[in-house]
Amino acid sequence: MKKIDVKTGQSSYSIYIGAGILAQTGEKLKELGLRDKAVIITNPTVNKLYGAVVKQSLRDAGFKTAVLAVPDGEEYKTLESAGKLYEQLAEWGAEKSTAILALGGGVIGDLAGFVAATYMRGVPLVQIPTTLLAQCDSSIGGKTAVDYKQLKNEIGTFYQPKMTISDVTTLKSLPEKEFIGGLAEVIKHAVIKDEQFFSYLEQNLDRLKPLDNNVLEAVVAKSARIKVAFVEKDEKDMGLRNILNFGHTVGHAVESVSQFRVAHGQGVSIGMTAAAGIAVRMELMDQSDAVRLEKLLAKAGLPTKLPQMDVQQVMRAMRYDKKVQGGKIRFVLPRTIGQVFITDDVSLAVIEKVLGEMI
Ligand SMILES: NC(=O)c1ccc[n+]([C@@H]2O[C@H](COP(=O)([O-])OP(=O)(O)OC[C@H]3O[C@@H](n4cnc5c(N)ncnc54)[C@H](O)[C@@H]3O)[C@@H](O)[C@H]2O)c1
Repeated sequence: MKKIDVKTGQSSYSIYIGAGILAQTGEKLKELGLRDKAVIITNPTVNKLYGAVVKQSLRDAGFKTAVLAVPDGEEYKTLESAGKLYEQLAEWGAEKSTAILALGGGVIGDLAGFVAATYMRGVPLVQIPTTLLAQCDSSIGGKTAVDYKQLKNEIGTFYQPKMTISDVTTLKSLPEKEFIGGLAEVIKHAVIKDEQFFSYLEQNLDRLKPLDNNVLEAVVAKSARIKVAFVEKDEKDMGLRNILNFGHTVGHAVESVSQFRVAHGQGVSIGMTAAAGIAVRMELMDQSDAVRLEKLLAKAGLPTKLPQMDVQQVMRAMRYDKKVQGGKIRFVLPRTIGQVFITDDVSLAVIEKVLGEMI
C-alpha cells in the first residue's frame, strides 16, 4: 500500500492507494478519531459491487451505518439530488460528527463531497474513488460541485476530505471505455510534469491493460502525486492549477460539439494531440515529442484524430469556453514531454490549421 500525505492551507490528510484496502475502511476511520456513525453515499452500480465490503468493514469497526444511493449518471449530479440526500441524512439522524463516505466515480465524489461540505455547515468527508479518473484526478484537490441547468459544476465549493482510500482492485470491474478515458488524465499528468513517468507508461501500458495490481498501484500513486503537487501550491485554483487543463481547451470543445458522444477522456486525448500539434507548428516543441505523445495515446486506445465534425464549430465552441479571457483562447502547450506552459498567444489561424490536419 502507498500513502501520500497532502497538505493544503487549512488541512492535511492522507491518500491510501492499494489492493484490497476497502476492507480497512472502518479501521482507518477509527484511526482518524471518527466514531459512532458513518453514511455511504454511492450509486446502485457501485453499491452492488462494493457497498457490502465497505459497510461490513464499518460495522466491524463499531459504526452504525447506512447506504444512500443516488441513481447512476451525471444527470443526477444536481441540487435536487443534494436536497434528497440532506433529507435522508436528517431522517437517519446524521450528526455534525457523522462521516460521509463518497463511494464511486467522479460524479459521486463531486456530489457527496458537496453534500458533506454543506450539510450542517460541513461534516467529515472520506473519498473512496472507484474509477481511474476519480483515483488519479477528481478525488484530489477538494473541488466539489453539482451541475445547474445545463452548466457543469456551476455550484460548488472547495472541501478537502479527511482521508482518501483508493482500492485499485475496484478498477477491474470498470467498463473498458471508462478505464481508457481515465488513462487520458494519467498521460496528461505525465506530460505536464514527469518525463520519467511518461517513459514508465510507454514501457508498462501493456501490463496496465490486463490490470496488474502492482502496476496499477504505481500508476495511480504517481499520477495522484502529480495532481497533489499542483493542488498543494494552488488549493483554490487561482493560477497554477490551470496547467492541469492541458488538453482541455480543444477537448471540451470537441465534447460539446459532439453533444457529449465523445467522452471526456477521449476529448482530452484529442485536445492533447492538438496542443502538441500547435506547439510543433509554433516551433516550440520537437516533432519527435509530439509523435511520442500520439503513440502513447494510441497505444492506450485513445483517439488522436478529430471525429467527423466541422472545424469552425469547434473553433466557435472554444471561444465560448471558460478558458477564454479577453477574446483570446488560452492554451496549455507542451515544450517537451514533462514540461508545459500557459499561453494566450496562439493565433486562430494556427489552431484552425492544426485541427484541419487532424481530421
Ligand atoms: N472534482 C474534480 O476535481 C473533478 C475533476 C475531473 C472530473 N470531475 C467530475 O467527475 C465526473 C466524471 O467522473 P467519472 O469519469 O469517474 O464518471 P462516473 O462517476 O460517472 O463513473 C463512470 C461510470 O462507472 C461506474 N463505476 C464507477 N466505479 C465503478 C467500478 N469500480 N466498477 C464498475 N463501474 C463503476 C459508475 O457507476 C458510472 O456508470 C464528472 O462529473 C466530472 O465533472 C471532477
